[in-house]
Amino acid sequence: MKDIIEKIKDMAKKEINEASNIKVLEELRVKYLGKKGEITQKLKELSAVSAEFKPILGKLLNDVKRDIEELLAFQMETVRNLAMKEELEREKIDITIPGKRHVVGARHPLNIITNEIVRVFSSMGFSVVAGPEIEWEKYNFDMLNMPKNHPARDESDTFFISDELALRTQTSSVQARYMETHKPPIRIVSPGRVYRIDEIDATHSPMFHQIEGLIVEQGINMGHLKHTLDAFAKAFYGNETKTRFRPHHFQFTEPSAEMDMSCFNCGGAGCRVCKNEGWIELLGCGMVHPKVLDMCGINANEYTGFAFGMGLDRAAMQKFAINNLKLFFENDVRFLKQF
Ligand code: DAH
Repeated sequence: MKDIIEKIKDMAKKEINEASNIKVLEELRVKYLGKKGEITQKLKELSAVSAEFKPILGKLLNDVKRDIEELLAFQMETVRNLAMKEELEREKIDITIPGKRHVVGARHPLNIITNEIVRVFSSMGFSVVAGPEIEWEKYNFDMLNMPKNHPARDESDTFFISDELALRTQTSSVQARYMETHKPPIRIVSPGRVYRIDEIDATHSPMFHQIEGLIVEQGINMGHLKHTLDAFAKAFYGNETKTRFRPHHFQFTEPSAEMDMSCFNCGGAGCRVCKNEGWIELLGCGMVHPKVLDMCGINANEYTGFAFGMGLDRAAMQKFAINNLKLFFENDVRFLKQF
């Protein structure tokens, strides 16, 4: 029996050493150590062995069993490492191969200008908020003190969706929305798309862009308005820029004004950009009407504020010397890449 055991041991060693994958090793474990395995079989046969040889053969068998177990474990580990190495080898990445280029187009001039304007106002402590383009009449008109018979509410000017819903005609709607849900101090800007029924030509489009601004705090006066907007014009168009305010009328501000800036192209002497005026109209502004504050639930005796609204399309056209608004909406990457 001793010879047989030795033979089994040699055979097992040989087979295990030659095994090159985990499946084969598992099969070998079953073959030698499984329930019906060769070693297990021999251990069972021990009971028939005489008392004299039983301990010797028993020890031998157990030693062989342990040897086979250790060898199996060792070979298992070796095979696994090898497999891992091969896999890593296969998945090797050549980081020197030039990457695939993603063509991502170009930033739109309107976005460039909007981002720059937002950056200037952010540096003054304004935060940016968004509002919906489909808007209740309530926010677009009523709460901005624009009565039902106001000409801007006419069906020929506004894209109505239902009796009470329309595509917003101005970003001023965000003012009402924001004041209704926030307590002063308020300091926000809100850029976005607005819509008015209009013929399309080189300078008009039924969809265009505005940025709205609003401050409501204690003690805000016209001086704050003029200084803030003058500082914006200087930051955005250059330190030499001058501004002037002309009286105007808006329903939601009192007093109201329009702000012009000295032409950034000719400095005020008169040129094609400013149509020889020397000045360029930049935005509408004013002190928030007390009625508007009240309608939004802000005590007009305690708080005052100013607001402004600026068209972005014309500003971008002037800044980048673009002569046709249509170019903004064609999304031709050859056009967009120039900015
Ligand atoms: N919403 C006005 C427009 O579309 C622009 C405007 C004027 C906004 C005065 C304001 C403001 O906030 O105070 O023509």
